[in-house]
Amino acid sequence: MEKTCVIIKPDGVCKKVSGEIISKLYSQGLKLIALKMIVPSRKTMEEFYGVHKDKDFFKPLIDFICSAPLIAMVWEDENAVAKVRSIAGATNPKEASAETLRRIFGTNNRKNAVHASDSAENALKEISILFKSEEIAQYDYSDWEKFN
Ligand code: CMP
Repeated sequence: MEKTCVIIKPDGVCKKVSGEIISKLYSQGLKLIALKMIVPSRKTMEEFYGVHKDKDFFKPLIDFICSAPLIAMVWEDENAVAKVRSIAGATNPKEASAETLRRIFGTNNRKNAVHASDSAENALKEISILFKSEEIAQYDYSDWEKFN
């Protein structure tokens, strides 16, 4: 099953819309297999966003992403990466389609509410930066019903 790394960014956490974002992903059939609130170090997020290190927006991106807690998650689906990117919408909320998370909750290119992995390969890299292997759950929705 394909995995994708999703982050609710500081703007999403501080606007108290994390529940709505998580509900939207559930409603589209994705399975939540890891979730935690983190206050990441700059080093961690510089590694996470390493592909952008030469871009003009790199330092402001790191300043912003480390400005308040994040909610880091791993979601699973047969087509998790494309599915979540479609639900998230374009990077710039003003260009994102109606009903997408960034259109509804984002403000601009930087304060755009969520991060979503752009490939299955990058998802695994991002997950390995933010999570230990024991923090990733493997379960069936029916597991709890097996016990009295
Ligand atoms: P994200 O999906 O987290 O991946 C990289 C982030 O860089 C992206 O969302 C944006 O928040 C940010 N970003 C990309 N392009 C720009 C830009 N032109 N100006 C500011 N931030 C940007």
